Parts: sequence; structure tokens; C-alpha cells
Amino acid sequence: MADRNRIEIPLPDDWHLHLRDGDVLPVTVNHAASRCRRAIIMPNLKPPVRTVEEAAAYRDRILQVCQWDHFEPLMTLYLTDNTSPEEILKAKDSDFVHAVKLYPAGATTNSDHGLTSVQNAREVFAAMEQCDFPLLVHAESTEPNLDVFDRERAFVETDFAWICENFKRLRIVFEHVSSRAGVDFVNSNASRMAATVTPHHLLLTRNDLLVGGLKPHHYCLPVVKTEDDRRALIQASLDKENFFAGTDSAPHPRSKKESHNCAAGIYTAPFFPELYAMAFEPHFPDPSQDPAPLQDFLRLFMSVRGERFYRMPLNEKGSPDQILEIRKEEWTLTASYEFAGDELVPLYAGKTIPYKAEIVKAN
Ligand code: DOR
Ligand code: ZN
Repeated sequence: MADRNRIEIPLPDDWHLHLRDGDVLPVTVNHAASRCRRAIIMPNLKPPVRTVEEAAAYRDRILQVCQWDHFEPLMTLYLTDNTSPEEILKAKDSDFVHAVKLYPAGATTNSDHGLTSVQNAREVFAAMEQCDFPLLVHAESTEPNLDVFDRERAFVETDFAWICENFKRLRIVFEHVSSRAGVDFVNSNASRMAATVTPHHLLLTRNDLLVGGLKPHHYCLPVVKTEDDRRALIQASLDKENFFAGTDSAPHPRSKKESHNCAAGIYTAPFFPELYAMAFEPHFPDPSQDPAPLQDFLRLFMSVRGERFYRMPLNEKGSPDQILEIRKEEWTLTASYEFAGDELVPLYAGKTIPYKAEIVKAN
């Protein structure tokens, strides 16, 4: 008899993940691998991952500490003012670098080496367009006088519009889309643009950040926005083939979060499928009555759409021989993880959530 409190989907992939490096790598890698098969690994290390050679070495360090056979890190390069078109061709030729990440200089954590002007990357964009290599974009303007809640909209209207106008066939992922303006822009470029949507932008608004005392563990960039923006993200995710899961899970030690200079980033990797299930559940029939509609959607959002955009094989049952089981079952999240001598506080630390996921053998 079918268990109504159970959903199963092919192993998910996380299309936007921060693992960091060094002592914390065993923690972050194994959390991610406990829930997904592949992940796009962000290159904003100190110093950043700028070359194919550096990406290969970083990939080796990730695989060395990984205790799960199924996990495959998909590497990216960090775009600087000095990135060469030749490096793009090398990346395209490798079988482990899958995209290039654009950070506007100064926009976010470890973005100091990012682009000081998008026009500095004209030749790189041309090379990427030519060899069909995806560009991943942190879409926030760094104009100093701009309101922080308007940074995404302003980037869309200026730099992003310029990129799209000048490189019409360049395939682009609008990363961690956070506003209605961002959603509209993705929709108006849908033939060659996709978007990742994080669990925290689907679950939180700026009230969760600012009301009843400032909440450092709800602070990320782009900052969480209004209820109207959140609804736009939910609706686009429900309706559009080109919106898919990318957690932007971004670990920082407690000492850097609960600080007068709070670092941007929300940690969700250890239970991200559960968070997506929570975010979308209200938009489907009660899964304990009929789990199929929510299950079908979560499969598309976490295990199919991103794979299609990146042109990668689906994680079908049997290859690998595992699935993700998501049970309607309350459990209490850990208050913090050990993090190389500090602590790592995840989203909803110490709270009870209604879903629990696990990678299990497919029958
Ligand atoms: O909140 C964020 N944290 N946004 C980013 O763009 C970077 C990330 C990080 O690396 O901590
Ligand atoms: Zn990120």
C-alpha cells in the first residue's frame, strides 16, 4: 500500500552551492552530499578560483573529504577583469568546469576580485557565447547611493540589459533571483535564461530579518525582500520550466554572523529538500491526502529543470541506484554544527520542521 506520508524523487541536484575550503570542507561537503547528487560549486574562495587548474585542485580537495560515492562537484570559474577568452576555451574543453560566475566587484562576500565593469568582459562573453558556455550572474548593482532593496532591479535595468542586448545567444543563469523585477526579467529572456531560486528567498521576507530584533541568520545577499517579491518567486517556480533549485547555502562561522559586521549568507545544505517541500506545500493539495501533485512538482524543480538547462543526464532511478525520500515527519534541527573550532548555525536552528529527507536505495 502506498505510504501517503512519503514522497520520492530522483536524487536532486543543487545548482548553486558554497562549500568554502580547508578545515571546514569535510563538514560542508558531506552535508551537501547527504541530500544531493551534483552541485554547482561557487568559486568565491580567498583567493578566488580563476583558472581551470585551480578548479581541478579545488575539485580534488572536495572529493578527498567526501564520504558519499554519488556526489559530483560541478566546478565554476570566477570572472575577473583579467579573465582571458583562452581560459574559457580551456574550461569548455575540460569535463569538470561547467560555468563562469560573474560577481560585480564589491556586491557580496569575497567579490573584491569581481568585474569592475561588465564591459571589461566583452571578449570573454563573446567567447562564451561562441562556445555555448553558461554565465552565472550575481545580479546586484553596486551603485553606492542605491537602496539595498533596489539593487537587483537596478542591475537588471543597466548591466544585465547591456549583456543581454550585446550577447543575444549567451546562455545565462540569473542566480538567487529575489524580486518581482528579477522574475520579470528572466521571463522576458526565457529562451536563453534560467534562474535559481533559494529556499530562504521562498520562505522569508524582510520582516523575518528586521521585525522583533535583527536576525543575523536571516541575512544574505541579495537581501530577502517583500511579500509581493516572495510571491513572485513562488509563482514563477510553480509555473515556469526555467526556474529551479539552487540553495546558495553559504556557511559562515557564528562569530562572523552574530557580529557588528554580520557576514551575508544562510546555511541550508543539510536539509534543503525539506525546506523546498515546506515552501511549496501550501500551493498543493494536502500531501497526506494526495502526495502526487507536490511530488511531481518537487521532482521537476529539484531533479529535472536544472539538468535540462545544463544539458546533463537526469538522475533517473537505477542510475544511480538511489532516490531521495521525503517523509512528512517532524524533526528538530540541530542548534549548531561543529565548524573547525567555531560553530555553524543553520537556518531554523533548533526549530522543528515538518519534513525529513533521506537518500535511500531505490527498489
Ligand atoms: O548571502 C550570500 N552569501 N550571498 C552571496 O552572494 C555570497 C554568499 C557567500 O559566499 O557567503
Ligand atoms: Zn552564492
